[in-house]
Amino acid sequence: MTVSQSGESADERNSFIYVVASLAALNGLLFGFDTGVISGAMLYVRETFELATILGYSMNPSYVEGIIVSGAMIGAIVGAGLGGRLADRLGRRRLILVGAVVFFAGSLIMAIAPTVEVLILGRIVDGIGVGFASVVGPLYISEISPPKIRGSLVSLNQLTITSGILIAYLVNYAFSSGGEWRWMLGLGMVPAAVLFAGMLFMPESPRWLYERGRESDAREVLSRTRSEGQVGDELREIKATIRTESGTLRDLLQPWVRPMLIVGVGLAVFQQVTGINTVMYYAPTILESTGFADTASILATVGIGAVNVVMTVVAVLLIDRTGRRPLLLTGLAGMTGMLAVLGAAFYMPGLSGIIGWVATGSLMLYVGFFAIGLGPVFWLMISEIYPMEVRGRAMGVVTVLNWAGNLVVSLTFLRLVDVFGQSGTFWLYGALSLLALVFCYRLVPETKGRSLEEIESDLRETAFGSEAERTGATGTDD
Ligand code: BGC
Repeated sequence: MTVSQSGESADERNSFIYVVASLAALNGLLFGFDTGVISGAMLYVRETFELATILGYSMNPSYVEGIIVSGAMIGAIVGAGLGGRLADRLGRRRLILVGAVVFFAGSLIMAIAPTVEVLILGRIVDGIGVGFASVVGPLYISEISPPKIRGSLVSLNQLTITSGILIAYLVNYAFSSGGEWRWMLGLGMVPAAVLFAGMLFMPESPRWLYERGRESDAREVLSRTRSEGQVGDELREIKATIRTESGTLRDLLQPWVRPMLIVGVGLAVFQQVTGINTVMYYAPTILESTGFADTASILATVGIGAVNVVMTVVAVLLIDRTGRRPLLLTGLAGMTGMLAVLGAAFYMPGLSGIIGWVATGSLMLYVGFFAIGLGPVFWLMISEIYPMEVRGRAMGVVTVLNWAGNLVVSLTFLRLVDVFGQSGTFWLYGALSLLALVFCYRLVPETKGRSLEEIESDLRETAFGSEAERTGATGTDD
């Protein structure tokens, strides 16, 4: 393909990289669709199956429902746990292909499930596909992108997560009159098939290829996605940081990597414990209590999904200009404020009229602030801050924690509301958002505009510099 030689905005003019990133971002669509579709489908699954037994054991129907809903998250924890290692072994592109096949199979199993047990199996398989996708989508895009536009391209993955959620809400709405839950769940096969077919024609990550000793293949990929002048420079940078031996999980605990492990783990946990998925999963329930009728609350849920998408577009446009930190800190400050207001609105007696609107408005703004900050920045940062030799595994570890946090929050939300009331629960998430703000302000680095190799060298220098200062010794390279 021909690329611009004219200097200044050669990156931007190279349209092939946009095709590659947009296609790979379909990984996010699988993730988002899965997140959004289940609440709608469950309303009708209840009507098809007796939810009182599993494998012949009688159970409380609400537990059975809980298992069906959380089955995908458990699958995602397993998928993310295996996904990091597999991404290092098989390569990024091949794992995307495997993930699409697994997700397709899960959706098919759910669509034709003759029993509850098979439906649960389908949810778990589907979740494993989502787990793979959630690790390898951002990883692949980050490694194939030029530094100047990496933030926007990786954030396309968050944009497709939010679009997937919105599409799922609309699909729920469209199929709700006939109660066709099999269609709702089965439609996941479509994006999985498109992702699989498209990825067959996409190149492998140049960084992974180089690490595997395939320098000429890496050069070839770079020359398809960069202007000519940039290929040599980028290859030299990659060469300078690549180690011949590949890292193990223990390498994540080395003193120079540890600070970034803390950053990744903190972002992963805070992204969930500040409550976003209580809104994604329970929005209609929350909205009903602010005075909306049934159908109005479903429509308002679509509105929340739309705010999520629109504000993510804003983040995609800004993230390489303003940098990651300003978006993250503004987003967290806004989330904290909105959760405080939301708690106060629910604290008032009789949530209706103007207070109902204040509650709805602050709920939407809360989602908007998540969407410009913690939503995209978490996935972007974890694809940037780890050294090449452990990148896949490190992302796997923090993604597992993100899914585990998601599971814990969704399983405990209704119980927390029972114990602390809605206002107490939102204030709790608000306090955690404030903590997240302090954590990010103090520990999260700015990565805007730097190549992955520059970020890695900075990390080594800072750590070995400070280690040398502390111990008076010189740091040796591994
Ligand atoms: C989170 C998901 C969440 C989604 C909402 C993602 O970044 O990881 O848990 O459902 O954003 O937009």
